[in-house]
Amino acid sequence: MATLTQLANQFNSDKGDQVRCCHRYTTLYETIFEPYRDRPISILEIGLQRETTQHQLDCPSLRMWLEFFPQAKIAGFDLTDFSEVDIPRAKTYQGDQSDANRLREVAEDAGPFDIIIDDGSHASAHQQITLGTLWPYLNPGGLFVIEDAHWQPQRDVERREGTETMLSIFKRFSIYGEPIESPYLSDERCHELEQDIVRCTFSHPFVDERTKPQKRSMIREVARRVLKGKKRYSDQRLFKLIVLEKRGTADQSRGLETTAVQMTCDSV
Ligand SMILES: C[S@@+](CC[C@H](N)C(=O)[O-])C[C@H]1O[C@@H](n2cnc3c(N)ncnc32)[C@H](O)[C@@H]1O
Repeated sequence: MATLTQLANQFNSDKGDQVRCCHRYTTLYETIFEPYRDRPISILEIGLQRETTQHQLDCPSLRMWLEFFPQAKIAGFDLTDFSEVDIPRAKTYQGDQSDANRLREVAEDAGPFDIIIDDGSHASAHQQITLGTLWPYLNPGGLFVIEDAHWQPQRDVERREGTETMLSIFKRFSIYGEPIESPYLSDERCHELEQDIVRCTFSHPFVDERTKPQKRSMIREVARRVLKGKKRYSDQRLFKLIVLEKRGTADQSRGLETTAVQMTCDSV
């Protein structure tokens, strides 16, 4: 059976280890998504196509998810209209993730979801609107994934100067015990997130045999110190991915856990 990384490479998604940026998120996904693999779950991904190939309309990551989750029902959402692309078991919706009303319409039609992956514009304001709007449509025990948390778009309209990044918001919340605050979320939604999130996982850059041992251990050590609240680290490059786990029906008494993993899945 193919691994998720092999599927990402096969379908041309940069979540694997061969295409363009080679984010290698699949190494972590393989572990955290495994328990869902053979279940009839519902998945929503925001952001469907790599920008350099806009001229060839296709959704590489939707095809990858469909192979990996043979029983899943999959929905995709993007600024671009992919309705002409034939993808079995998947339905795509056109819209802007900064438009809460459109997100809500889609969630009413396709939700609720067990996994939501935000791989859209990556602008923090958009990510906050998306999280706040879709959180009620994430099933108990579900996972909300925010990709490329280390990067912000350059265009002012998306960047909205001064907007706090998701990394900063969730580091403050899960590591330093501060409340969730956002100009894009109601107080009620912030409170709901604080109550509902049982685990925040931060994933830091992949290091492999080509990475100098000194750099490898430096990344691990800084991640460990940040996670233990011993260091406030401003370089957004330290973590690339955030996974928020929603309280399940069986974890009423579970407190908040904060974990850091490398893409190779070592726990810090
Ligand atoms: C990084 S690509 C997605 C890559 C794809 N998930 C994969 O793994 O191959 C980002 C996508 O987000 C879409 N996008 C950018 N801004 C958006 C927005 N405001 N709302 C919805 N989609 C957006 C772009 O059209 C593009 O298709």
